Amino acid sequence: PDIAIIVVAAGSGTRLEAGAPKALVGIDAHSILRHALDGVFAALPAQVIVVAPAGHEGDALAELEAAAGDRRDLGRVVTGGATRQQSVAAGLDALWGDVKTVLVHDAARALTPPSQIDAVARAVTAQEGVVPALPVVDTLKKVADGAVVAAVDRSELAAAQTPQGFPRAALEAAYAEAVSAGVEYTDDAALFAAAGNTVRHIDGSARAFKITTPDDLERARHLLGASAT
Ligand code: CTP
Ligand code: MG
Repeated sequence: PDIAIIVVAAGSGTRLEAGAPKALVGIDAHSILRHALDGVFAALPAQVIVVAPAGHEGDALAELEAAAGDRRDLGRVVTGGATRQQSVAAGLDALWGDVKTVLVHDAARALTPPSQIDAVARAVTAQEGVVPALPVVDTLKKVADGAVVAAVDRSELAAAQTPQGFPRAALEAAYAEAVSAGVEYTDDAALFAAAGNTVRHIDGSARAFKITTPDDLERARHLLGASAT
């Protein structure tokens, strides 16, 4: 396939406080990483790079093989870095063959619908990146020193999810620029845009929420339990 999906799973999960790297924490019988990979392998055929926490490459490979089934030759595990950006860079370095489109996906968005992965892949062009995003529902305020200093017009805002998709050549060039500038960006779309590229957005989905806190893990457990009945 000329599409690759880099699944970043190398974070430690400080906010989840589960006593293990977040991607390896169980939701039900299966880990966050396993659920994420089940979604990835249910989507369009793609090369799959799992970026694992250092010391947990073997666990990640077992999850990859379980999710991939007879597509396991499409998968590879590499070791992540200290920041998400470094982990994505490690994934980019591991691409092989004639990949033209790269999707970067958070393992922590374990319940992302495969249709969202497909939609992002379809929307990437030779020049432009794509992010799935949801409208912001909360009333947002700009604050400083305990005071509300301004209202924020939420109609101008969107909450970005993953996978985020990019033309490979431009993404690699943008990563090289970020490394030489020594800048860490909040996500791949910001890094890609900082290099002068255009990023478009498509509709995200509620199920693509990121498991960050113990409450999020409860929500994922609830969603899986509800859909199993
Ligand atoms: N990630 C990564 N390498 C890092 C940091 C993060 O691959 N050095 C990945 C995580 O595994 C996750 C995704 O990036 O799938 C989004 O990061 P986040 O939700 O912040 O996960 P953690 O960094 O693990 O959590 P925390 O910030 O609470 O420690
Ligand atoms: Mg983090």
